[in-house]
Amino acid sequence: MTDTNIKVREHYSATGLTARIKAALTTIKPEGQALTVAQLAPLDQFHTRGILATGELAAAARLDGSARVLDAGCGIGGPARYLAATFGCKVTGIDLSPAFIDAATYLTERCGLSDRVTFQVGDALHLPFDDASFDAVFLQHVAMNVENRTSLYAEVRRVLAPGGRLATYDLVLRDGDVVYPTPWARDPSASFLLSESHTRKVLEDAGYNAVLWRDDTQVVLDWFKTVMGAQPQSGPNLGMVMGSDFPAMTGNLARNVRENRLGVLSAVLTRG
Ligand SMILES: C[S@@+](CC[C@H](N)C(=O)[O-])C[C@H]1O[C@@H](n2cnc3c(N)ncnc32)[C@H](O)[C@@H]1O
Repeated sequence: MTDTNIKVREHYSATGLTARIKAALTTIKPEGQALTVAQLAPLDQFHTRGILATGELAAAARLDGSARVLDAGCGIGGPARYLAATFGCKVTGIDLSPAFIDAATYLTERCGLSDRVTFQVGDALHLPFDDASFDAVFLQHVAMNVENRTSLYAEVRRVLAPGGRLATYDLVLRDGDVVYPTPWARDPSASFLLSESHTRKVLEDAGYNAVLWRDDTQVVLDWFKTVMGAQPQSGPNLGMVMGSDFPAMTGNLARNVRENRLGVLSAVLTRG
C-alpha cells in the first residue's frame, strides 16, 4: 500500500463503525426490520448535496436495469444502494476503508439489497476486475483523495466496456488556499485537488469524451444555505462516521466554496 493510501485509509478509519451504526439505527427501525435507502441518506451519502446529487448524476449517466455498475470509492454504500434500488441494476462497490466496507455490507443487508449490491476492500488504482467488466463507473467525491489521477482514470477506463460511462462528481480548485480540515482530509497531505481545466485535460488525455460537463458550484452554495439554516437532523448521520470534528470539516467545505477557493463539478464521459 502506498503512503498516500495509508493516510487516506487512516482518515476514513472509523473505529467500531458498524456496531455504532447498528445501535443508532434502533431509533429508526428495530434490528430485523428492513430499512429504506431514503431513511439512510443522511448517514450514507458522503458528498455535497447527498442523495440529490446521486440521483442527478445517475439520470445524466442514463443508467438502466441492465447496467453493470462499479462505485469506486463507495464509502458506506449509500450511492450503490440508491442505484440498485432505483434502477434495478447490479452494483459493485470498492473502497480503501475496511470499516466502511463492513458497514456498507451490513446496511445493504438491512435494506434487502444484498442480491444486487456487493462490496469489497480495494484500491481504485488497482481494480481487481477484468477489462471491460462494467457499463458505468461512479466516482463521487473520491478523486480529491487520489494523487495519481492519470492512473486512476486509466484504470477506470480499463474496466469500462466499449460505450461505457464514467460519472464523476468532484471538488475542484479555484482561487486561494483551501482551508482544512475538510471532510476528505484533515490536512493537505491527503488532498490532491485539481482545477476544472486540469481535470478535463487529464480525463481527455486518458481517452474520455465528455457528454456532460457541468459547474454545480452555485447549486451547492444554495444547498449549503438551506442545510446550514435548518434545524440539525436527529438520527444517524455522517457525524457518526467521521467523528466529532465533522461539523468543522463541513463548515470549512462550505467556506471554501463560498469564498471561491473550491468549485463543484459534475461530469459524465464516455470511454472514447
Ligand atoms: C468522501 S468519501 C465518498 C464516498 C462515496 N463515494 C459517497 O459519495 O458516499 C471518499 C471515499 O473514497 C475512498 N477512497 C479514496 N481513495 C481511494 C482509493 N484509492 N481507492 C478506493 N477508495 C478510495 C475513501 O476511503 C472514502 O470512502
